[in-house]
Amino acid sequence: MRTFPIIPIIAFLSVISLNADSSSNSEDLGFAVFRDRCMACHLQSGMGIKEMNAPSIAGLPRWYVTDQLRKFRRNQRGNHIEDAAGSLMQTNALALDEKSIAFVGRHIESLTPNEGRNILSKKSTKDSKVLYRKRCQECHGEHGEGNRSDRVPPLTSQQDWYLLKQIDNFQTGKRLHYENDSLNELSEEQLQSIIAWICSLPSSPPE
Ligand code: HEC
Ligand code: HEC
Repeated sequence: MRTFPIIPIIAFLSVISLNADSSSNSEDLGFAVFRDRCMACHLQSGMGIKEMNAPSIAGLPRWYVTDQLRKFRRNQRGNHIEDAAGSLMQTNALALDEKSIAFVGRHIESLTPNEGRNILSKKSTKDSKVLYRKRCQECHGEHGEGNRSDRVPPLTSQQDWYLLKQIDNFQTGKRLHYENDSLNELSEEQLQSIIAWICSLPSSPPE
């Protein structure tokens, strides 16, 4: 008599677990793409592997990830002959279809952003913030949060070595920053101090 109620309980539990399985399957196409095609270089956490030149991408907004994947696909990024890191990433972007791009973008956005981005241990100076305000804030925002409507990325998820590498890519024509790029007017030391300051900001802007 005592074992009698167990059967409906088991049936009930298996229905619950089936439901959980099927809903996570349909939600997790983004994870599946990420696991199969991205994790080898960007890690499960999305923190990247510096030795592979693969940056931290965890928490980057979906619109920016999809923009960049499309740029890689359209030869607008990663196709310069001397851009080995970009071309490594381009090969991966070329393997994706539009649906995978949309889903993987959502997965990356959902990952917890990187708070330890000062890898090179450069120091910001008292001028860093002033320089940022004058030269970068208009587009990248007061707290480095970016600006979706102008397609400007946040700068508070990526590590310092990667941001400096992109600045070098902009300056050497491997990647387009924006029309009339004014980065060249800043010295290397000034740029390093701006990036050191950016990498000390929290990954989410204060409320
Ligand atoms: C073989 C290694 C490798 C794999 C696999 C890989 N990436 Fe990358 N990824 C890189 C490298 C290297 C860069 C840096 C490119 C550069 O310096 O311009 C990068 C850059 C990026 C960027 C640009 C970040 C930014 O701030 O602009 C995005 C977005 C990105 N990867 C997403 C992905 C996604 C999504 C996948 C899976 C579909 C993936 N990557 C798979 C190596 C890889
Ligand atoms: C006129 C607007 C504008 C200004 C001013 C500007 N940026 Fe940008 N920045 C952009 C845009 C747009 C992109 C994205 C380019 C793309 O889509 O590939 C970008 C991208 C970047 C990236 C690459 C981020 C990544 O994840 O790959 C870095 C690094 C960067 N900017 C640094 C700076 C710094 C430092 C300054 C100030 C010295 C600055 N920018 C000033 C518009 C601007």
